[in-house]
Amino acid sequence: MDKIAVLDFGSQLTHLLANRIRRLGVYTEILEPETPIEELRKYKALVLSGGPASVNAPGAPTADPALFDLGLPILGVCYGHQWILKMLGGTVAKGQIGEYGLTPFEVLKNDALLKYLPLGPTTVYASHFDTVTALPEGFEAVGRTADDPLAATQNLSRKIFTLQFHPEVTHSVLGLDMLKGFLDLAGVKREWSMQAFLKQAEEEIRAQVQDRNVFMLVSGGVDSTVAFALLERALGPDRVYALCVDTGFMRKNEAKNMQEFLKDAGIPGLHVEDASDEFFTALAGAVEPEQKRKIIGDTFLRVQARVAQKLNLDPDHWLLGQGTIYPDTIESGGTKHADKIKTHHNRVPEIQALIEAGKIIEPVKELYKDEVRAVGRELGLAPEFVERHPFPGPGLAVRCLCAEGPVGESIEFDYSLLGDFSAKAHLLPLKSVGVQGDERTYRQPILLDGNGRFPGWPALTVGSVALTNAEKRSNRVLWLFALKNGESVKTVDVLKTTLTRDRIATLQEADDLVNHALKDLDPKNEVWQFPVVLVPVDLNQTGEEAIILRPISSENGMTANFTALDPAKLQKLAADILKIPGISSVLFDLTNKPPATIEWE
Ligand code: XMP
Repeated sequence: MDKIAVLDFGSQLTHLLANRIRRLGVYTEILEPETPIEELRKYKALVLSGGPASVNAPGAPTADPALFDLGLPILGVCYGHQWILKMLGGTVAKGQIGEYGLTPFEVLKNDALLKYLPLGPTTVYASHFDTVTALPEGFEAVGRTADDPLAATQNLSRKIFTLQFHPEVTHSVLGLDMLKGFLDLAGVKREWSMQAFLKQAEEEIRAQVQDRNVFMLVSGGVDSTVAFALLERALGPDRVYALCVDTGFMRKNEAKNMQEFLKDAGIPGLHVEDASDEFFTALAGAVEPEQKRKIIGDTFLRVQARVAQKLNLDPDHWLLGQGTIYPDTIESGGTKHADKIKTHHNRVPEIQALIEAGKIIEPVKELYKDEVRAVGRELGLAPEFVERHPFPGPGLAVRCLCAEGPVGESIEFDYSLLGDFSAKAHLLPLKSVGVQGDERTYRQPILLDGNGRFPGWPALTVGSVALTNAEKRSNRVLWLFALKNGESVKTVDVLKTTLTRDRIATLQEADDLVNHALKDLDPKNEVWQFPVVLVPVDLNQTGEEAIILRPISSENGMTANFTALDPAKLQKLAADILKIPGISSVLFDLTNKPPATIEWE
């Protein structure tokens, strides 16, 4: 089997680099740069990664220069680029300014490494301060940036190629084509495939688990479900006890649907514990977001403890399955809150004992999200499942706001948007969570009412930022999309409400309409997550509530922008939502994160 060794000089992107090469069909292995030359001989090509150090610093990571004598094709990226060129006789110096982030790049020569790229400009992602200032003999520049005339180089006769930037990140628009050029030149066989991965993963699972069983909590998210499906495929349904706790706050019919599509894929063993009564009872009367979260976390613990006790999770006979994926384990990835509920789970003593004994199995921990999805597809899980958006652990409970009545002042003022478009602004007497300067805020949203006229997204974007900057009482801005009773807002009330089955059912209906409309609303797949929120805001005294649409675009949830979808399509969706009993208005959340969080609570 042809394999490429990726020597890791310490970059956060090394795994991604290996991942991209695998996705192009080639087996990779990540190795220490100190790996002995004899070991490296087994590989068909070497890739030298980036790293945070300066090659000129004392003690900077290094590899044995004898690797150049192996005659293997070599690609150096960032630190790897500098290390190679320095070791072979070039010079590396502190750059004048360094390059960080998106950088214009010009392809000068596309005969070899850059053969899949057209000559001329493209964009790459760079992150470096040092720069190569002179090339060793036999090397030529094949691409440049404004500040680095030697940003891409090759020595064709020795098959050594170097890139100062990161072809592995998607911001390097044609980065994969550069890697493809290298793989062609290296002549490595494309033998890696999802099937090959699965076969290997199943063998590894059986080897680790031996004759024990695996307990696993499945949330309904992609990662834990795919991990479970893989475990069950490897071990059979009798040896994996997967539990989905139905809190009552899942999407419409979700627990049932999940069991069914898993069954369709030949994976029958998901147990669902309907704990909704317990959750609704525990939450009766809770209004404050953090209090709701705490109750949900504690209730989860109780349910889990019950199951764990029933199963008698003796560490000699059980492992704990987890859906950890690669970005969860590196600083930059994952989402800030993604583990909140999970951390709670893990504190049940029975489970804690498994963790402390190191009895954990994480079958997808080496994979990125795109690979987890590909594994899911390969395992036969429905495409609409593997493509689904992230969903918070506490589910619809944190998307169903409760209130004891109005909070804060309700005020109305005229507001001029761009192009002299004037809207009525209402500071709503209710609060939602936001984040400003790394601090949690709990403030009132502003609702903009254009009296049936839509000013266009650019005007609303500018207006939203300006309003949240200027109005210290507010962290969110909404646009009035549809109103059942009248053309414009005459009165604003906040209804006294708690978390009830009826309200969750109403929200599930609205959420379901949005999910069904999603493909049509978001043809370009720009939406990363689309919370639908029920708030007890009663406009024009119908005694009914408002639904908020909150589509956002984001990389990982840490920051986000609201997604400007086609207003005509939104209008149609809003009209359908208004038909749901109990709903009298549909509002659109115009706020980025920061200043608002993605969720309302
Ligand atoms: P915020 O609302 O803080 O959310 O902008 C960022 C991301 O985290 C998700 N989220 C949660 N996920 N448990 C979870 O598993 C939670 O308690 C939780 N709260 C927020 C949210 O959906 C978004 O993707």
